[in-house]
Parts: sequence; C-alpha cells; structure tokens
Amino acid sequence: MNTLIVSYSYTGNNETIAKGLAHRIGADHIAIAEQSKRSLFTIVLDIVFNRTPKINDISQSLNKYDNFLFIAPVWLGKVATPLRNCFKTLKNKIDNYSFVSFSASGNNSKLGEELFDLIGKEPKVVLNPLIIDLFPANSKPSHKDLNSYRLGDNIANKIIENVEMELKKVNFLNV
Ligand SMILES: Cc1cc2nc3c(=O)[nH]c(=O)nc-3n(C[C@H](O)[C@H](O)[C@H](O)COP(=O)(O)O)c2cc1C
Repeated sequence: MNTLIVSYSYTGNNETIAKGLAHRIGADHIAIAEQSKRSLFTIVLDIVFNRTPKINDISQSLNKYDNFLFIAPVWLGKVATPLRNCFKTLKNKIDNYSFVSFSASGNNSKLGEELFDLIGKEPKVVLNPLIIDLFPANSKPSHKDLNSYRLGDNIANKIIENVEMELKKVNFLNV
C-alpha cells in the first residue's frame, strides 16, 4: 500500500511525530498549512461554530495514495479543525486510514466517532499518546504544564517507535 502521512500541528509536537514517523517508515508526508493566523481564540471559535478553516490546497497530491495516516492535536476533545478540509476531499473515497494524536490528558474517547462522521469510514486505529503520561505517576501537572509541553528528540523517538509498533500490530503498514 502507498501510505501518505497528512499532519497538522499548532505548536510543533505532532509535527515532530509526523516528520519522524515518515522518515522511519519511509512514507510521504504533507504538512497542512493554514491560510489565516491561528490563535487560541480561533481554536475555540472553530469548535463552537463547527468551522472548516482554509488551508493550502493539497487535494491534487492525495490521488496517488490508498493508505492515509492523519496526525494532529486534539482540541477540546475534537480532531484539530485544519484537517477537516482534507477530510472533506477524501470523504467516502478512502478505505484505509488511521489517526494519531499526541495530546495532553485524554478524555478523547469520541475521536473514532468523529472521524467516522467526517470521513465516512471507521479508522483502522486511533492512537493517542498523552503528555500527562510523561509526568511522574504521583505528580499533578496543571493545564498550563500540559499545554506548554514541547516534545524533545529522545521522547519523540520513543513515541514514534511505539506508534510504529502499534500500527504494525493492526497491519496498518502492511509489512
Ligand atoms: C485550545 C486547546 C484545547 C486542547 N484540548 C485538548 C483536549 O481536549 N484533549 C487533549 O488531550 N489535549 C488537548 N489539548 C492539548 C494539545 O492537544 C497538546 O498540547 C498537543 O500536543 C499540541 O499539539 P501540537 O504541538 O502539534 O499543536 C488542547 C490544547 C489547546 C491549545
């Protein structure tokens, strides 16, 4: 299968994972760029008003792939909205995809349902490694601690290895 990684990242964490994973598994990678400046305020507005933000046009590049790995943050329990445009292009047209998000603290149990609504097909797997799990078990990191966490290379590499292992377990990479 011809795999494409499509990623979006606001503060860099998911970009680090997307780039590293693309390199590791030898997949092509497209990073989504937005046409307007993103802020915390527009994150909330997008979710509340169910908006689809404008992005760089990647639709032509999607045709030659039959396996998609989407990587992006979770915002307020939802897949980051800059992926929506791409999902609209692919809706009811793809059979194989998975979603990976490196996010803060979880409670993201509805991601699979949301992806089904947006793409018209269930994801093969949703992987959601969490920042909170990187803190000592008895510590109580604040929202600020979690949201300001930035991935370094060592931890990123461990997460990438683990994501690859989980993807192989479900035969997502068909290797
Ligand atoms: C406005 C906002 C809402 C967020 N909501 C969630 C959430 O619902 N669940 C979660 O696990 N993380 C949440 N996060 C944390 C991000 O997913 C996390 O910081 C992620 O690593 C950022 O990815 P990025 O650096 O690729 O942009 C939120 C962050 C922001 C800024």
